[in-house]
Amino acid sequence: MFNSNLTGGPAWHWQAWRSEKAWAPTVDALETWLLAQTTPETPRTLLLIGASAGWMMPHLWLQQFKEIHTFDIDPLAGYLFKWRHGKKLQAHGVRLACHTQNALANLPALLKIHPQACVFFDNVLGQLRFNSTDIKLVEKNMMQCVQALKGREWGSVHDRMSGPVSGELALSLAKGAALPETSGHLDKGGDAQKWLTSIQAQSPWLDHLTGKVFEREVAVHNMAWAFKPNYWHWLQAGWVKP
Ligand SMILES: C[S@@+](CC[C@H](N)C(=O)[O-])C[C@H]1O[C@@H](n2cnc3c(N)ncnc32)[C@H](O)[C@@H]1O
Repeated sequence: MFNSNLTGGPAWHWQAWRSEKAWAPTVDALETWLLAQTTPETPRTLLLIGASAGWMMPHLWLQQFKEIHTFDIDPLAGYLFKWRHGKKLQAHGVRLACHTQNALANLPALLKIHPQACVFFDNVLGQLRFNSTDIKLVEKNMMQCVQALKGREWGSVHDRMSGPVSGELALSLAKGAALPETSGHLDKGGDAQKWLTSIQAQSPWLDHLTGKVFEREVAVHNMAWAFKPNYWHWLQAGWVKP
């Protein structure tokens, strides 16, 4: 069900390490968005699922928790997460534990172990579509994760779609322009098409099957991510309060 790793491991770490500069505008946008979601009422324990080394995780946001448990199926992830974030978190008195496990399959058990924690799916739900060619099964597995969180505070950032772009936008961004961002579900009328046009998408784009993760009342934020110069992702982020 949730057992392959086509989106993590050494290739991901290499890509993330060498893309730090290109990804910085998306990391900044994610930081601003994350900082606006959590409140003094947000649980101080965080379960961070699909954490990898936290290549796109902002320190400032992580620092506000008392305890963080990271989860990844990649055995390198925990070491690298500690290398990147460990010292700073320790300096802020944050307890950090990194776990190598399939946290999507184990989600109900993890929620039982941590009844007071909030959960953040860190760019992992959109990767489930690579686990099977059975679209219905992928959507079912994804929705099971979401349903398990009933009554919890939780959030997710994930791929909504990804695909080729024309090089022109990347060139104009190199001159310092901000990446496109917008709010809303974008699934009505031509809104998704307008968004894709704004990031100069070239057909065909891959649907990551995450369109039903957030219910209508959840405020959704859309961000562009220049994953590779000619292959970009449309990220959707949302935060759910019980
Ligand atoms: C696109 S990467 C995102 C990495 C991370 N959020 C970051 O900022 O570096 C997706 C990550 O999800 C992990 N992953 C995939 N399936 C998983 C599962 N079932 N449980 C835990 N982690 C998983 C992969 O190993 C990979 O590290």
